[in-house]
Amino acid sequence: MARTHHRRTVLTALSATALLALAACASGSSGNPGGSGSSGGGGDGVITLGFAQVGAESGWRTANTQSIKDTITKENGFDLKFSDAQQKQENQIQAIRSYIAQGVDVIAFSPVVESGWDAVLQEAKQAHIPVILTDRAVDVTDDSLYASFIGSDFVEEGKRVGEWVSENLGTKPINVVQLEGTTGSAPAIDRKKGFEEAIAGNSNIKVIDSQTGNFTRAEGKTVMEGFLQAHDNIDVVFAHNDDMGLGAIEAIEAAGLTPGKDIKIVSIDGVKDGMQALADGKISYIVECNPLLGPDLADMAKKVVAGEAVDKRIVTHDDAFDQEAAKAALPDRKY
Ligand code: AHR
Repeated sequence: MARTHHRRTVLTALSATALLALAACASGSSGNPGGSGSSGGGGDGVITLGFAQVGAESGWRTANTQSIKDTITKENGFDLKFSDAQQKQENQIQAIRSYIAQGVDVIAFSPVVESGWDAVLQEAKQAHIPVILTDRAVDVTDDSLYASFIGSDFVEEGKRVGEWVSENLGTKPINVVQLEGTTGSAPAIDRKKGFEEAIAGNSNIKVIDSQTGNFTRAEGKTVMEGFLQAHDNIDVVFAHNDDMGLGAIEAIEAAGLTPGKDIKIVSIDGVKDGMQALADGKISYIVECNPLLGPDLADMAKKVVAGEAVDKRIVTHDDAFDQEAAKAALPDRKY
């Protein structure tokens, strides 16, 4: 099977090279690394989009998957092929290779981790299939390997949390523990960086421990239990997502302490469960990370398949909530 695939890739790459040379002579660059230049891929007007999702690790991810399934629909001109990588990069690479072998019109994915994508993205490029990144970035040597990246600014999210902590809790000495997202993922790397930058000038704030909870509620709880055993002086938990913050609440309550009073929690996402905990006073502050990326992905996919020039980076808008803002937003919260 691998050999068949390799031959197919080589043939596609050869014919693609010839086509590219012709296209370049005729019209110059389209600004699109892999676009076929045809609208609607297979000629029937339907765009086949292969989406390789991270997994189902959090409420955020569930909302993100729903948004994609709600917009990449037959009625909207798409045939969606969807796979769940269960938070494993090798599964995602396998899914992308399968989409390449099937000859989809466009591939979209939210990378589990930042690095290790050059080879498979080269294969997509050689097969002339454009790639759109949603939610998370990749660290590649050549950014022509993807057409566009749609998602939040994670450094900014971490920075906003850090600024709030510094202004509202860092007026006296405080000890912070950090529940990091998946090791090597863009949101874990960037949120940590943004937070550190924001608190750097405040000598009252000390980060006394930091470990990954892999963006899940269960692992957030387990790591928090370990923090509570190792330290009796925790004032604040910075959780890289709501689910780990919710796991931390369970651990704090099980230890006979009161979240929001004895230990304050700040987090990122703004999913309904997190917002409810914020409204209830168990979480103190949440910076939103908008998961509703389906509509932007649909627009972008149509453009890249049509060979239109597109923006390399689309930064989505995120709000931030304290307790009162959460109470006001909850009744209309979509996710
Ligand atoms: O990449 C976005 C992050 O991934 C969300 O903050 C988190 O909940 C998810 O698992």
